[in-house]
Amino acid sequence: MRKTQVAIVGAGPSGLLLSQLLAREGVACIVLERRSRAYVEGRIRAGLLEWTTVELLKAAGLGERMMREGLVHDGFLLAFEGRTHRIDLKGLSGRHVLVYGQTEIQRDLGEAAGCRVVWEAQDVSLSDFDSAHPRVSYVQDGVRHSIECDFIAGCDGYHGVCRASVPSDKITHYERAYPFGWLGILADLSPLNEELVYVNHRRGFALCSMRSRARSRYYVQCPVEDKVEDWSDERFWSELAARLPAELAARLVTGPSIEKSIAPLRSFVAEPMRFGRLFLAGDAAHIVPPTGAKGLNLAAADACLLSQAMVEYYRTGSQTLLEEYSSRALARVWKAARFSWWFTTLMHKLSDDALARKLQLAELEYLCDSDAACRVVAENYSGLPWPRH
Ligand code: FAD
Ligand code: PHB
Repeated sequence: MRKTQVAIVGAGPSGLLLSQLLAREGVACIVLERRSRAYVEGRIRAGLLEWTTVELLKAAGLGERMMREGLVHDGFLLAFEGRTHRIDLKGLSGRHVLVYGQTEIQRDLGEAAGCRVVWEAQDVSLSDFDSAHPRVSYVQDGVRHSIECDFIAGCDGYHGVCRASVPSDKITHYERAYPFGWLGILADLSPLNEELVYVNHRRGFALCSMRSRARSRYYVQCPVEDKVEDWSDERFWSELAARLPAELAARLVTGPSIEKSIAPLRSFVAEPMRFGRLFLAGDAAHIVPPTGAKGLNLAAADACLLSQAMVEYYRTGSQTLLEEYSSRALARVWKAARFSWWFTTLMHKLSDDALARKLQLAELEYLCDSDAACRVVAENYSGLPWPRH
């Protein structure tokens, strides 16, 4: 039986960042990941970092390439009814955000990770996490291995095994699945605008984002039942152009996509985030619709709070931060869940209900007229302050 201090399940951003933060403080850990390294590093997901996340990654020793290659954005555009309105993040909240893809963060973490990652660890199972000696086991090359540890960190995403291992009477799930998804494409083309553009259109939502000055990321709202095969590149570009204000559509450069996928939209929070010596972090505990770009940032915040709690325990023997982890993390999670739900509801085609559309347009016009309303958006989008301890 192998021993370690912290067994981490999942090598996504929350698991690898936690391992990096712990290793830097001398806490031993092992990460178990069911997929291959190439698969995990190739997944195209989030693209936008709050400045608190940027600072955290820098403090974890991951700032060098990020600050060289990331793009600092001071604002973004809202588009509706053929017009645009800029949310001045810097002017209204004093903060900016960084465009730097999750794939790049995965690569940086993969190279830096101070802990051992067991890639392609199959059939991970947890036991005894309500005792002082939790265990995790997994199968590799047909052989089952066991690890005894002090703590288990469940960083294994929405479909992982950790949350599913908690007895159902010990956990409460709050969940809403939206009846639409995002069809996203990645293309090696220059972005249509210097800043991101979020579009409310009667045909549905669209988002113009980017990964670099030469790589664009675009999304259109689509029925959740659609298949990627239903969407040729030509169909995607013409649908996107139809949703953009004419002046922006005229600047759209099209070409072959290098990736295309459909993501469902969901709001989900599990409470609490601690069960004895098992702690959930990131998508394992909560999912937000991507409209507010919060998923990756929440995963990083959880990893930070959990590492602080574990480091304090190993340094001083105090369990205070371990006991407070769930409530401190959830306070932040619910605020991000609220903002992501609100922004999703404001920007998407919700139904054919004419009243709902009129109310959306009234709210967008109010944003155009009111600095106070825009400040609320800017504060939430650029990231709320972190809890102190
Ligand atoms: P994950 O990244 O999901 O990592 C969990 C890891 O655990 C995975 O590597 C998985 O293979 C592994 N795992 C799962 N089960 C097991 C098991 N049984 N044993 C071992 N390992 C296991 N956020 C945004 O802000 N903007 C976006 O545009 C955006 N787009 C997204 C698109 C998609 C398709 C998805 C799924 C998410 C998207 N997100 C987006 C959300 C963001 O990517 C996530 O919030 C972020 O990846 C969370 O990180 P995590 O480490 O908690 O979970
Ligand atoms: C992205 O670039 O993938 C992205 C950016 C902002 C969002 C969602 C996704 O709100």
